[in-house]
Amino acid sequence: MKIIEYKSILSEYNINELSSEHFKLIKLAKKSSLKAYAPYSNFFVGAAIKLSNGKMVTGNNQENSAFPSGLCAERVALFYAGANYPNEKIEKIAIFTKASFNFNQIIMPCGNCRQALIEFEHKQNQNIELILNDQINNILISKSIANILPFAFKCDELKKI
Ligand code: THU
Repeated sequence: MKIIEYKSILSEYNINELSSEHFKLIKLAKKSSLKAYAPYSNFFVGAAIKLSNGKMVTGNNQENSAFPSGLCAERVALFYAGANYPNEKIEKIAIFTKASFNFNQIIMPCGNCRQALIEFEHKQNQNIELILNDQINNILISKSIANILPFAFKCDELKKI
């Protein structure tokens, strides 16, 4: 028997330590969160993606009265990028959350969004930088999605079916 260990490394910043590009992406994610459709959870999430052609695209969570039919902000932004810019790489994604209740923690992407994000990392053979923000200007950065999704599902053989 041997132990297989996985180590995740995240960097914490204050917002005024960030580059103007990071700052712009966070601002876009924040702006997009204001347009989220979240009448059931009152949890408004915005995501902003920077593509390799320099374009920035956004998405926000879209809920539904049949709860599982809704979609998280990350995947709305990601699939918009995939649908409209299939040949561009996704370089960075910033996520911002605002709720009708108080919380003081950095919101991490859910498991489904991590899986959707890592598929893009595999497909484009390039890491996606993840930029997370709390309510009081603390920022967490992960250099890749793999860093926050140990032992991700991947099966190249599926492509051959
Ligand atoms: N949500 C996101 O948009 N992203 C996540 O990573 C986690 C959760 C949304 C889904 C739902 O509309 C609301 O937040 C509450 O779960």
